[in-house]
Amino acid sequence: MKTRVLTGITTTGTPHLGNYVGAIRPAVAASWRDDVDAFYFMADYHALIKSDNPERIERSRLEIAATWLAAGLDPQKVTFYRQSDIPEIPELTWFLTCVTAKGLLNRAHAYKASVDKNTEAGEDPDAGITAGLYMYPVLMAADILAFNANKVPVGRDQIQHIEMARDIAQRFNHIYGREFFVLPEVVIEEQVATLPGLDGRKMSKSYDNTIPLFAGGQKHLRESIMRIVTDSRLPGEAKDPDSSSLFTIFRAFASEAESVAFRQALVDGIGWGEAKQVLFERIEVDVAPMRESYDALMARPAVIEEILQEGAKKARAIAAPKVAELRDAIGLRSGVAIAPQAAAKAAPKGGKAPRFASFRDTDGSFRFRLFSADGEELLLSKSFADPKAAGSLQKRIKELGAAAVLQVQALSMALELDGEHVAVTPTYTGEQARDEALTRLRGALDQLAAQE
Ligand code: TRP
Repeated sequence: MKTRVLTGITTTGTPHLGNYVGAIRPAVAASWRDDVDAFYFMADYHALIKSDNPERIERSRLEIAATWLAAGLDPQKVTFYRQSDIPEIPELTWFLTCVTAKGLLNRAHAYKASVDKNTEAGEDPDAGITAGLYMYPVLMAADILAFNANKVPVGRDQIQHIEMARDIAQRFNHIYGREFFVLPEVVIEEQVATLPGLDGRKMSKSYDNTIPLFAGGQKHLRESIMRIVTDSRLPGEAKDPDSSSLFTIFRAFASEAESVAFRQALVDGIGWGEAKQVLFERIEVDVAPMRESYDALMARPAVIEEILQEGAKKARAIAAPKVAELRDAIGLRSGVAIAPQAAAKAAPKGGKAPRFASFRDTDGSFRFRLFSADGEELLLSKSFADPKAAGSLQKRIKELGAAAVLQVQALSMALELDGEHVAVTPTYTGEQARDEALTRLRGALDQLAAQE
């Protein structure tokens, strides 16, 4: 069994060294494991909550996609897509919104922090706060739950959001009476380094102290490294590696042996300028080849677009049946199913009606099919050793009618009874054909239930 690992990257900024070491590199490494089924996506709907600058959003989406691909993500192996290419996500967001307690969202850290800031400033508590910020955790829950993700690697600031996704999933499962959603688990990568930025604080866009990964090329990388703040010790004076940002950053790229050598050089009094050059060259060993693919991708956005469209297709193949199943469960069913009596009456008296046809399979077991009034095969039952058991399943299906639980799968559906798939539909040629068949199947079940 593969573990489905899913994470999103908000597309507001330009990737920096801290993003690379803290998120991109470990995620790409995990995606290569055989026991991992990775789903990585660009959270561009989330980006809209933070930025209303269209050029910035567009640029960041492109840069982030190119960065992940250049860093070694294999789009054949990983499902790599943009949130905004998956219409099932906003649809699911609404379903989840309707079961989410408003009080839960009141407690979200990000929203609360904004309220506190307003209150301190003597403003209206909700001044300048959009409903987008407020709904952030529900959108994030939909990102995760649409794909039945098992593990969600995130930074510490996101732990609460995963907890909320679990809460919301449980609430939905409870209300609609079935385990629709897998409960996701948060993964915090403890051993991954947090890089200091130019000023020694954690490297972060919000501190404006970042070292860009690719943007600006080799020249800009070198210039940024030369601006890392150090103490004022002169060449020849011993430096303390453990309080030096240079050493922390170096270690995040280097082998153990290289780190030992760099530590010694600092203790031996290497000048800061020279040490920065050593750091720059070490980072370049890793970054230069990736930068080359990054630049090639950035020069051909159409290639990136094609990869993302493929990814969206793969992602939707999972999210679409999931959402179809949910629509069915919450009562958003096709019009045919709404009026069972009318449908039954509409069938001409003494005319054709859906029917069961029992048969004996080659292995001697008993099964049956359900045919529509037009003779289309709608369902094939599982095998029974005892013909009476097959008969009583027919009776139960008749009693249930359109209330029968239908599990929508990629290109087929299954009728579920007591948690077991007891009959399956044929395989359809596409999602649309499947959805149309769902309507016919529901109609036929209605008619069955209405029969004497
Ligand atoms: N909110 C996350 C962040 O800012 C990004 C994100 C959006 C995400 N949807 C997600 C992460 C789903 C994990 C799963 O870091």
